[in-house]
Amino acid sequence: MTIIDPKLAQKQAAAKSALTYVEDGMILGVGTGSTVNCLIELLASVNLKGAVSSSKVTEDKLRALGIEIYDLNAVGELDLYIDGADEIDRLGNMIKGGGGALTREKIVAAASKSFICMVDDSKVVSKLGKFPVAIEVLPQARSYVARELVKLGGEPVYREGFITDYGNVILDTYDLDIDNPKDLEEKLNNIVGVVCNGIFAHQSATIMLKASDIGVETKEF
Ligand code: 5RP
Repeated sequence: MTIIDPKLAQKQAAAKSALTYVEDGMILGVGTGSTVNCLIELLASVNLKGAVSSSKVTEDKLRALGIEIYDLNAVGELDLYIDGADEIDRLGNMIKGGGGALTREKIVAAASKSFICMVDDSKVVSKLGKFPVAIEVLPQARSYVARELVKLGGEPVYREGFITDYGNVILDTYDLDIDNPKDLEEKLNNIVGVVCNGIFAHQSATIMLKASDIGVETKEF
């Protein structure tokens, strides 16, 4: 059975806009997910020097196009990282990690001068938190971290059968009150055993490309 993504046309439109920021000769930071896949399809038209990938899945897709993959440690700061998001607020703070690639995504985003976030209009929210916050956890710490998350008011759900690229597990955490995204991002990072969390407030977007039925809106933060 083929599943048709009702937002595909908007994702493709956002990706087409993102492509206008990509320059020949660049080493581009590339995110993960269905929106990024729309961008990857367009990257064959650019003469990139190469890419730093945020996941094995993206890496395979880029390699299939003949794009050279660089280790982040070998390239220093990147000019541009492009990715999608699960939610984004009006200040560019995001929830990411629906695809489980949050840690590598946050690392590549942190090492990049700009972060272009491509979204369809359903992902723009006034307050983050309807979408669960993915929290990557060392396997041994799973139960301990879950209890700490409950103390913070969250409801963690173990992502069954999923192992991250780094060999860890994910707790998708509902009901966290994200009044102050930066504060909560720091609090979650301080729980022993947490590798990374899906709140991107310290690595917020610098540009949002929001696609809707009437076109693509660009917002700079
Ligand atoms: C993966 C992510 C993705 O950017 C996020 O889940 C959005 O994915 P999609 O473009 O498929 O809606 O953070 O870890």
